[in-house]
Amino acid sequence: MATAGCRDRPMTESLDRAAPAVLTIDLDAIAANWRLLCDRVAPAACAAVVKADAYGLGMDRVAPALRATGCGTFFVAQLEEGLALRRLLPDADIHVLNGPLAGTEAAFAAARLVPVLNSLEQMARWRESGSSGSCDLHLDTGMSRLGLPPEDVATLVADPTPLDGLDIDLLMSHLACADEAGHPMNANQLRDFEAWTARLATAGIGGRRCFANSSGIFLGAAGHFDLTRPGIALYGGNPTPESPNPMAQVVRLQGKILQVRRIDSPQTVGYGATHPACGPTRIATVAAGYADGYPRSLGGRATGFIGDHRVPAVGRISMDLTTFDVTDIPETLCRPGAAIDLIGPRNPVDDVAAAAGTIGYEILTALGRRYHRHYLGGSGR
Ligand SMILES: Cc1ncc(COP(=O)(O)O)c(C=O)c1O
Repeated sequence: MATAGCRDRPMTESLDRAAPAVLTIDLDAIAANWRLLCDRVAPAACAAVVKADAYGLGMDRVAPALRATGCGTFFVAQLEEGLALRRLLPDADIHVLNGPLAGTEAAFAAARLVPVLNSLEQMARWRESGSSGSCDLHLDTGMSRLGLPPEDVATLVADPTPLDGLDIDLLMSHLACADEAGHPMNANQLRDFEAWTARLATAGIGGRRCFANSSGIFLGAAGHFDLTRPGIALYGGNPTPESPNPMAQVVRLQGKILQVRRIDSPQTVGYGATHPACGPTRIATVAAGYADGYPRSLGGRATGFIGDHRVPAVGRISMDLTTFDVTDIPETLCRPGAAIDLIGPRNPVDDVAAAAGTIGYEILTALGRRYHRHYLGGSGR
């Protein structure tokens, strides 16, 4: 279970009365998580990854809250995200992980966005653009996704001419298996990153080093270098999946009960008639479904909560609706209008993800647009 956060809060405001489902995002918990990570990595610095709309939680609210807390460096994936973030935070350092697509170099420079250069080709284009803005170099130590493969790093060590005139801020790499503390890839990637950055240094190519994501931070100080790059831990995901979650919970998702059906004679529930209701049963139907990012794979596997009462999801998840068995719950607690926690203090995002056969990242980034969103805190205290 995650530690405290996303405070218990009844749905009483008039806006909530009209809301089929309410998504509460605790900005103070995000700020507290960032501060916890800062303390953990000091004297290294801590940035914030806010790509994909701050992992689905709303970059326009999350990034200013983090900035007000003292975070000065942000990572996004794409140019458009960088431009949007620049409008929100005129004075922040903004790094764009995917680097520039051909022809977008001037847009990067105009918005003072720092491109992560992932290939010799991106490097050449950035150089040819004549931008005096700084850039980052991504060394691929094991993802085989983006970044310079070892043979290209070796080419640069032998002949650094392609880097002439470039103002390199960060040398970065990304861990493939950081969430598995004992995985041999972690030590191998760290060893290679240290070796390659040392060889680049002998060739006169330097920069601040940036390596660890959320889980990487918890693998130990050797991977902290100058700057760390957490995302999911800020948003309450557990960066140490084999141990209790040290992060505060950020998200609470409450779906309202639309209707409660009493079933007295044997019947089935939902599409495909997959769930037989045999004895006397009460089924509460909640206003959220797979169109809202509550995955269909949770059918028969999700657990909701009414207060402390556990209620299993039964039958298939529909586009807009999910059905829970509330037979054992006092009727006064599950009348139409009452809320079921779909994600909450007792069923945090990682548990929901595990039940769905996915990861917290996917649950968060898929959170639907139909939820009424409430933000708590965010004053930068
Ligand atoms: C290159 C890079 N750095 C950092 C992060 C942040 O990782 P996490 O959310 O696991 O902290 C990501 C996330 O996908 C990433 O792609």
